[in-house]
Amino acid sequence: MARLLLLATSIAGALAQGTQSTTSAGITFQTYDSGPNFKFGIALPETPGEDFIGHITAYDPDGLSWASVSLGYNAAENSHMKGPLLVVAWNHEGKAKAAFRQAKAYVNPDVYKGPMTFKEIPQGTSVNKTHIEYTFLCSKCITGDDITFKKTDTTAKMGFAYSTNGISGTETAAAKLVYHGFGPQRRGPFTLNLTGAKSAKYSSWAEMAK
Ligand code: HEM
Ligand SMILES: *[C@@H]1O[C@H](CO)[C@@H](O)[C@H](O)[C@H]1NC(C)=O
Ligand SMILES: *[C@@H]1O[C@H](CO)[C@@H](O)[C@H](O)[C@H]1NC(C)=O
Repeated sequence: MARLLLLATSIAGALAQGTQSTTSAGITFQTYDSGPNFKFGIALPETPGEDFIGHITAYDPDGLSWASVSLGYNAAENSHMKGPLLVVAWNHEGKAKAAFRQAKAYVNPDVYKGPMTFKEIPQGTSVNKTHIEYTFLCSKCITGDDITFKKTDTTAKMGFAYSTNGISGTETAAAKLVYHGFGPQRRGPFTLNLTGAKSAKYSSWAEMAK
């Protein structure tokens, strides 16, 4: 009996770490939920190409300076921060702004210069002092090399981070980001179920992007 209970508990634990189907702005995402503070969801077409729709939601009562997701995993360095393509969103004068960045070390990541672009989905985007919600069509973001997940993957190892510490230069993609802080609330890994992210409705959702 005790063993059965233990088994049930560990299965529940494993499920809690997985991703679930959620709907926001009429779009169905496969979403990782860290608890109260951070969520990241993805929507994909049935046959993924280079694009996806992403949805970052972050909240902190202490005030939020930036929120970010890492689109990959660097196995050689065992890092979600160093190497993979990072999508970082922040509040610039009441409007969401986002940039592609890449970290070579555990410091403020560089601007990533590549072919990828963002298009905002306004119905799923809002920012204020404590919240960042950013919904975006990410074009040419599934790169086919090691900095992001692959279009044929069924699951993807990703990472997240957000910070309550200062940010400056919010008008440019090169905004200076300050350390997220240590601890599982502020940064960590997750595995996203890409199979569960696929939908035949993807193209109609992608048309919502401006
Ligand atoms: C911008 C997006 C960022 C993401 C997605 C991110 C993500 C992560 C993750 C997941 C870790 C855990 C270890 C690992 O996977 O390598 C980590 C560690 C670390 N990050 Fe970041 N990070 C970001 C930005 C920053 C910035 C701006 C700084 C400092 C200016 C920073 C400094 C560090 C340091 C010092 C560690 C090692 C200590 C720790 O684990 O907290 N990171 N980061
Ligand atoms: C900030 O935005 C969130 C999400 O839209 C909202 O729930 C919250 O009330 C807003 N906070 C303020 C102070 O306006
Ligand atoms: C991923 O999602 C698919 C489709 O919803 C589901 O059949 C599968 O069991 C999920 N996989 C995991 C590991 O949760």
